[in-house]
Amino acid sequence: MNTLTRLNEPQFSPHTLNKYATLMAAGNGYLGIRACHEEAYTDQTRGMYLAGFYHRASATETTELVNLPDVLQMRIELDGEIFTLLSGSVVDYQRELDFASGELRRCLVWRAPNGKRYQIECLRFLSAVQLSLLCSRIAITPLDDEADVTISTGIDATQTNSGRQHLDETSVRVFEQRYLQGCYRTLDGSNEVVISSFCAVPANASNSFYAKNRRLTQHCSGRVAKGEAFVLVKTSWISSSLDKDYRAERWSERSLDNLMTCIERGYEQLLAESAERWAQMWQRSRVVVESKNPQDQQALDFALYHLFAMTPTHNERCSIAAKGLTGEGYKGHIFWDTEVFLLPFHLMTQPEVARQLLSYRWHNLAGAQAKAQKNGWQGALFPWESAWSGEEETPEFAAINIRTGLRQKVASAAAEHHLVADIAWAVDAYYQATGDENFMQQRGITLLRETARFWISRAVEVDGKLELHDVIGPDEYTEHINNNAYTNYLAFHNVELALRHASQDQDFKRQAEDFLQRLWLPQPDHQQVLEQDDTFFSKPTIDLSRYKTQQGTQAILLDYARAEVNEMQILKQADVVMLAYMLPWLFTPEQLEANLDYYEPRTIHDSSLSKAIHGIVAARCHRLEQAYQFWQQACLIDLGDEPHSCDDGIHAAATGAIWLGAVQGFVGLTVEKGELHLTPRLPQEWRSVSFPFCWQGERLQLTVTHQQITLRKASVRPMTIWIEQERVVITEAEFCTPVTGSGTTKEVSQ
Ligand code: BGC
Repeated sequence: MNTLTRLNEPQFSPHTLNKYATLMAAGNGYLGIRACHEEAYTDQTRGMYLAGFYHRASATETTELVNLPDVLQMRIELDGEIFTLLSGSVVDYQRELDFASGELRRCLVWRAPNGKRYQIECLRFLSAVQLSLLCSRIAITPLDDEADVTISTGIDATQTNSGRQHLDETSVRVFEQRYLQGCYRTLDGSNEVVISSFCAVPANASNSFYAKNRRLTQHCSGRVAKGEAFVLVKTSWISSSLDKDYRAERWSERSLDNLMTCIERGYEQLLAESAERWAQMWQRSRVVVESKNPQDQQALDFALYHLFAMTPTHNERCSIAAKGLTGEGYKGHIFWDTEVFLLPFHLMTQPEVARQLLSYRWHNLAGAQAKAQKNGWQGALFPWESAWSGEEETPEFAAINIRTGLRQKVASAAAEHHLVADIAWAVDAYYQATGDENFMQQRGITLLRETARFWISRAVEVDGKLELHDVIGPDEYTEHINNNAYTNYLAFHNVELALRHASQDQDFKRQAEDFLQRLWLPQPDHQQVLEQDDTFFSKPTIDLSRYKTQQGTQAILLDYARAEVNEMQILKQADVVMLAYMLPWLFTPEQLEANLDYYEPRTIHDSSLSKAIHGIVAARCHRLEQAYQFWQQACLIDLGDEPHSCDDGIHAAATGAIWLGAVQGFVGLTVEKGELHLTPRLPQEWRSVSFPFCWQGERLQLTVTHQQITLRKASVRPMTIWIEQERVVITEAEFCTPVTGSGTTKEVSQ
């Protein structure tokens, strides 16, 4: 395996504080911590989040993922000067996130305004083994003279979600003049979090403790000789009432016990244990690519690092938020992003995690049924945005228009219903990849049937046909339309799947068959293009070039009202291209090309989910240059230069899409109707790509070059796979076959 890459912050810049706080965030699926500096900067959004720990402050507010008290911040005084990189000068600066271990390291030399230089090294990691454990270490070495060092740090509960306080402080204590502990409860009394911290400091340092204004602080100072380090190691244990082993009695004491057990082992050993767990994760899933562009490997490592960091594998009542655990964007809510963009990665690397993500929906079925009923439908209408309870959490209004003072209503909760069919699509993907009958019997079939019942009840009859009216497809620039191609085809697929698994329920079967027979499925026009919805072709087009150059910024909405955008052929992301990705067998190769050619020029790619999917479809059209460009641009969604693109957290789905682009796009590994297909079409820039994956209980390692495919299996159990359209049954543990070229050669000029 070639060595894992690292993510480097090239220099300290006040302009990119939040970008790197997001990109370098720590996470273990249980906790996420923004990579904020120890010393505070007013422009840097600090944040620590616990999966599933939501709170709604009042009836008029939106439920949000609570920003927990801050344990990383330190006020550092060196010979009376307050350490901040905004004063004095930065002589040397390095910061890197080590993907191999999840450790964040910063090493710098600061020349204080008084002219003295200090070397400061900060390390931290969140344990991948003990999910409540956060360790940090700071070493300060005066380079010119002996120095007085003072560090104040503790548990700071003045932290808010952009000013909104969600927690009551229920107790703060210092035990044995050593251990700090803060207990907090959400304002509605429903959840609790306890944080215990300990700072190991030099023997000759003096310590004092105080609690004031929601801050519990340890104040530690000492004198250190020139060239020697003043080292403070802070260990924190963060747990909540959502934990499976939560019991009210002795809760805070158990938190302290856990903390003490960890302290005994020390930073290095705890890091080694955590790194070992990371190594297992990399072993199970790393995609290794030999590319002319080293940033390709970096993008893949970055994506997988965050896929691990954001995924709560400890509790199936949690799922993945649109920004993972890295920020407050979208209030920590869960969207279709999980099933469509993130679940496929888990399915192929750790199928039990995919099962767990689907179980999140199953646990929330009651909320989805209630939403359907409330709106006069049957079955399960899953909320467009959800949190812990499974209720609809989409805010009623979007940000205020400061020119008019009016708020724009968000229509997604009322009409963006494709999520229902996306969940069914993911249930089927899981079943195909694992054959897990147990899951299907206990949960999967219910999910399929309840989602299908929703579509059956939602359809309206028009001249004997069934139609789906007033929906929003994935393209959110086109609202309230009838017969959205994506929605209709996915709904059809959903009902078809439910029917396939339906057992004795004759009534349901009859309804499902009738729906499948009569649902209107838009057909391609004479140029093979599928109309996105009933009225799309009749709308005018405008030149989108200046908006395309500002992709992702929604600049179009500064020039046009949403209602105007709705009446033009302007797409945030292209529904038909998305449909071609999801259900590829619906499209002939000619139709695939025709639709990509028609819709791409009309698509601004303002959604971070757009580019990678276009890349996959372009690869399927054998347009490798175009596909590679899309993929590379998709890799830049968070990694690119635009400093504000990920201020409020990572684009979680976009990281899943980086993996999808490589595996489904270039390697061409897809599942169709229960069978595995492999049609490699590597970009010219790639010499090889290699990665492990799971398929129906088998662990495999696939390596693809322009010349050859090598598949290694863990067993000699026969397996069937379609390689470049030919059905192959593999019995041997290692199978090699030449690439015939049907997937790699054709390059269509654009
Ligand atoms: C996209 C949605 C997506 C959401 C959360 C929106 O901008 O249009 O498709 O689910 O972001 O990532």
